[in-house]
Amino acid sequence: MSAVHALTCALTQRPTAEVWDLVSGLLYQFHSAGIEEGEEPPPEGEAALHVGDEFEQAIEPGVLSPPERFTAYFDNLRDAERAQRAVEPVLLHLKPVFDVHEVEEKNYAEMWKDNFRPMFVKPYWLVRASWHTPEAIEKAAHDASTKVTPSTLELVIDPGMAFGTGSHETTRACLELMAHALSGAPKETRAKHIVLDFGTGSGILAIGLKKLGVGTALAVDIDPLSIEATRKNATENGVTVDVALGKADFKALDGIVANILKNTLLDFAERFHAWLKPGGFLILSGLLAEQEAEILARYERLGFRPTERICNNNWVSLLLGRS
Ligand SMILES: C[S@@+](CC[C@H](N)C(=O)[O-])C[C@H]1O[C@@H](n2cnc3c(N)ncnc32)[C@H](O)[C@@H]1O
Repeated sequence: MSAVHALTCALTQRPTAEVWDLVSGLLYQFHSAGIEEGEEPPPEGEAALHVGDEFEQAIEPGVLSPPERFTAYFDNLRDAERAQRAVEPVLLHLKPVFDVHEVEEKNYAEMWKDNFRPMFVKPYWLVRASWHTPEAIEKAAHDASTKVTPSTLELVIDPGMAFGTGSHETTRACLELMAHALSGAPKETRAKHIVLDFGTGSGILAIGLKKLGVGTALAVDIDPLSIEATRKNATENGVTVDVALGKADFKALDGIVANILKNTLLDFAERFHAWLKPGGFLILSGLLAEQEAEILARYERLGFRPTERICNNNWVSLLLGRS
């Protein structure tokens, strides 16, 4: 049985909601696919893990407050250790005590599945897993005061150990901005578009691009697990995504969606500019609000102009146009 790595952290007191948002966001950025919160293990059968907003649906209101202890799960030791290094400075004032240990993948995967709920994302999206029943979807629609309509675009996602359930603010914002970026293009034009999902994770955004009518969706990631997950999810959704592992080079793209860490967005600014056609769109996501000015300055110097911004829980996503 293979194992996953659990990063546990004990704090002297509860962090503020703002600090906890930052910490949980960083854990996801370092590929945590689930976070278990609280001091005591929950009673059998009760929700233990959350994947972003599903937690809010799974736990009684009022119980939702930043924890004094948490465990984040990672598929490899390196990510767990990198995540620890990233969150440590944010939690320093709460004297964090960390521990990394192995747990059996089977238990983890089962807990994770229990807590991944169908999710509606503006303006058209329903993100769900293959095992979700019509009743679960109906309940999610009811809870979100919405319903499935003929214009709903369904994304069936099993991220496995890759990032991208659609539950993170940054992924949801990308889905929303992709729909907006393409809304002006007639169907025939979209069918000729070539758009890149840079840092594809589970493939959710590349698959979303295809569902929006984009002719060619390219997906790149440096993580082999992501390539595997993207291929599997594309098949599950009945679409074709062109997937590449590691370094790749492009030209004359109509759009790029990049939900990735700040330093990578800075590193790739010139390349994104070179890869895009004049008039192409760029979605940058994965930034914290305090990183926005630096990123914007870098991209504006290259001739990009911001046209839309989404900020949720301190995570900023930007839609820009290339001149
Ligand atoms: C935050 S996840 C985003 C996943 C998905 N696109 C989403 O929006 O949910 C970032 C992904 O970028 C990948 N990544 C990190 N650095 C990369 C690089 N230099 N080139 C390509 N992919 C990279 C990671 O492996 C990870 O899968």
